Amino acid sequence: MPSKEVQRIIRVDHAGEFGAINIYRAQRTVAKFLYKDIVEQLDDMLHHEKEHFDTFNSWLEQNSVRHCYALWFWAIGGYFLGLVTALLGRKSIWVCTHAVESTVLHHLDWQLSYLSKHDPSAYEAVLSIKQEEEAHQNLGLLNGSNSLVYSPIRLVVKYSTKFAIWLSTKL
Ligand SMILES: [Fe+2]
Ligand SMILES: [Fe+2]
Repeated sequence: MPSKEVQRIIRVDHAGEFGAINIYRAQRTVAKFLYKDIVEQLDDMLHHEKEHFDTFNSWLEQNSVRHCYALWFWAIGGYFLGLVTALLGRKSIWVCTHAVESTVLHHLDWQLSYLSKHDPSAYEAVLSIKQEEEAHQNLGLLNGSNSLVYSPIRLVVKYSTKFAIWLSTKL
């Protein structure tokens, strides 16, 4: 049985992927009507997040580790965040992407350094998603904006992601 800390790490990542799926799903729904040209990019990201979710889901099953009790919170919160940012405009979608993925990557780096010393299979699972999360972060950077106008969105997204991560370590 993996240690409590390792279980917690993969459980949070599993829940986070569920949140990401719902962010991009909501944004895709809005984009289908308002920003048709980015639907394909959102589809690609959505596809990646589903694969990431499956990776962590298999790990949890193989190691008989339960999932986070707050999965529904990630789903609703993610969908809401995706919906609101998409309705605020095309640029907001990418500002949100950049903020979410940056927060996630910061978290992944800490996890990887811990897991490299404690659990090879969990380390491999987390490492397998890193490159795609970096690609998402880059897309957000390229298509988003550095304008101060978007600072509130950046802050709200960053801190709601941090809050959700913190909450999931408790549940
Ligand atoms: Fe992901
Ligand atoms: Fe991602």
